[in-house]
Amino acid sequence: MALMYPGVWVDEVLSRADIVDVVSAYLPLKRQGRNYIGLCPFHNEKTPSFSVNRENNVYHCFGCKAGGNVAQFVMEMEKLTFPESLRHLAKLLNISEPVQAYDPRAEQERSQKERVYDANKDAALYFNANLYNPQGKKVLDYLYRRGIDDAMIKRFGLGASSDEWSGLKDYLNQKGYTQDELAASGLIHVRQGNSYDVFRDRAIFPIIDLYGKTIGFGARAMGDAQPKYLNTQDTIIFNKRYGLYGANYLRKQRDLKRVILVEGYMDVMALSQVGIQGAVATLGTALSPQQARLMKRLASEVWVCYDGDEAGQMAIMRALEVLDAEAIPSRVLHLPQGLDPDDYLKRYGADAFEELKPITANTYRLLRLKIGFDLSSEDENSAFSLEACELISKVASPLEREDLVRWLTAETGYPKDVLTQQVEQLLRKLGPKSAAGLKSSLGKSRRNGVEMSLDEAEKTLLRLMATGHVPNDFMNEDDFESATIAKLFKALSEGQKPMKILTDCDDNQTRSIASEAFSMTDSIDIEQVLPAAEECLTVLRKKKISQRIDAISQNLSNLTGEQKISSLEEIMRLRKTLNSLKISQAEGKEIS
Ligand code: UTP
Ligand code: MN
Repeated sequence: MALMYPGVWVDEVLSRADIVDVVSAYLPLKRQGRNYIGLCPFHNEKTPSFSVNRENNVYHCFGCKAGGNVAQFVMEMEKLTFPESLRHLAKLLNISEPVQAYDPRAEQERSQKERVYDANKDAALYFNANLYNPQGKKVLDYLYRRGIDDAMIKRFGLGASSDEWSGLKDYLNQKGYTQDELAASGLIHVRQGNSYDVFRDRAIFPIIDLYGKTIGFGARAMGDAQPKYLNTQDTIIFNKRYGLYGANYLRKQRDLKRVILVEGYMDVMALSQVGIQGAVATLGTALSPQQARLMKRLASEVWVCYDGDEAGQMAIMRALEVLDAEAIPSRVLHLPQGLDPDDYLKRYGADAFEELKPITANTYRLLRLKIGFDLSSEDENSAFSLEACELISKVASPLEREDLVRWLTAETGYPKDVLTQQVEQLLRKLGPKSAAGLKSSLGKSRRNGVEMSLDEAEKTLLRLMATGHVPNDFMNEDDFESATIAKLFKALSEGQKPMKILTDCDDNQTRSIASEAFSMTDSIDIEQVLPAAEECLTVLRKKKISQRIDAISQNLSNLTGEQKISSLEEIMRLRKTLNSLKISQAEGKEIS
């Protein structure tokens, strides 16, 4: 996360802001042991799973896995960027803003950007005025024909570019913009000394950022010109993978429950026109993690509503993966007959759209999976059921698993308990994952004789490390299989504060793992820490050795003579080590 403030100032703000005070302003908290708990503001729940830890200045929701430090909490609640959130906290705490050192290069870049912002703004005004001039009539008629009225034109600042080669260029030159500035703005092309307007004979959709600044344009061809939609190339102020069309209208919307993610500019407009709030579109690219995070700042859920055609449906699957990776709760609004939201509204009206039932991401995945099978054939029905059970077994929430099994029962005709058994069998194979707490994970592993999964052992080890009661040389970075956890471990062993570690997390998954670890430090009995750490470490080392044995065994058939013998010897040595690890573990103290 790029910070524009000096580290000492950031540290001061973060360490003086008491997270319990800050969170309490938004929701009631109740003390529970040394943590505070309440109803999570980021997802709907009836029993509290949102926990705040004053000592580490961290929050974590054990339900939706949201988490972070005090500034990140304010970011999510107030829909701010990280620097904005620091400023917000500084104001609350009466800490004055730091003086920024004068940096001529930064200054030059800033003024260059200012010129590009200004050029975009002037261009938007020019295009908009054009719409009501004779040369814009063609575009205006087109917009009217598509049902866009003057109020919408005004709200979205729509415009027209005529088919002249230099209408905009001449206008902006007159206003004092140089050729370099216009080229840097992506408004003109320069080729072999000649320059001409990028956007010609198109309807213009200004792309506006969260601060209300025009940063680029989407432009739809009037004739058959390709591409149908031409977007501003990336510039010093515009990156099409970061922005979302329509997001600027949602920033001030406090009670927005979900964002509706659509494919096109026209879809955003069509929804807005019938009074359905919350639609945004990507800018001609597949959904990026940055855009997903931006949506998370606008509402707690994202409903994906792409075109009903095959391309749109495939794009939904990819979008769901991106949203999952960012731990953003998502649903799918499926449109029939290959329609896009704009067509659907025109054909069936706003009420019908509002009545569409959003389906969960996993139900959607199952529906897509189903397409590949002919369920009237017994073989394919059972093959589908198996694959579906596999998918369901990976779902973390038992309640959701139950719902999905019920759905599968209705689809396949298999009795529910058979499907449940199948899922449970697969679950056991996966190992107990993501158990809520240390006690339950360690306890369960012993009682059922099922070993902790690698993933769980690593997360548990991180939690134990976060208590500060595990010596630094107890394990090292290489013990971890997950690069994410290894990185967090390294930061901890270097003595970095939880607050700083959270600030440095560059994705939501890492942040969630870290905030979970830092939220549980108080619930662990100090005396249990070392034996528990030892158990986890044993699991990790055993897995490593088994993997090594597998690798050598697989290579055996390629070897002969001396080499083969030494490999066999190594396997024997490793087996011995593995057995001794198993014995010492069995003799270990019972932890419950
Ligand atoms: P569509 O072709 O579905 O657009 O592309 P649409 O909005 O339904 O088009 P019309 O105006 O009703 O015919 C969906 C989105 O994909 C991007 C645009 O953002 C568009 O709104 N796109 C599409 C491009 O960036 N370039 C293209 O050439 C086509
Ligand atoms: Mn479309």
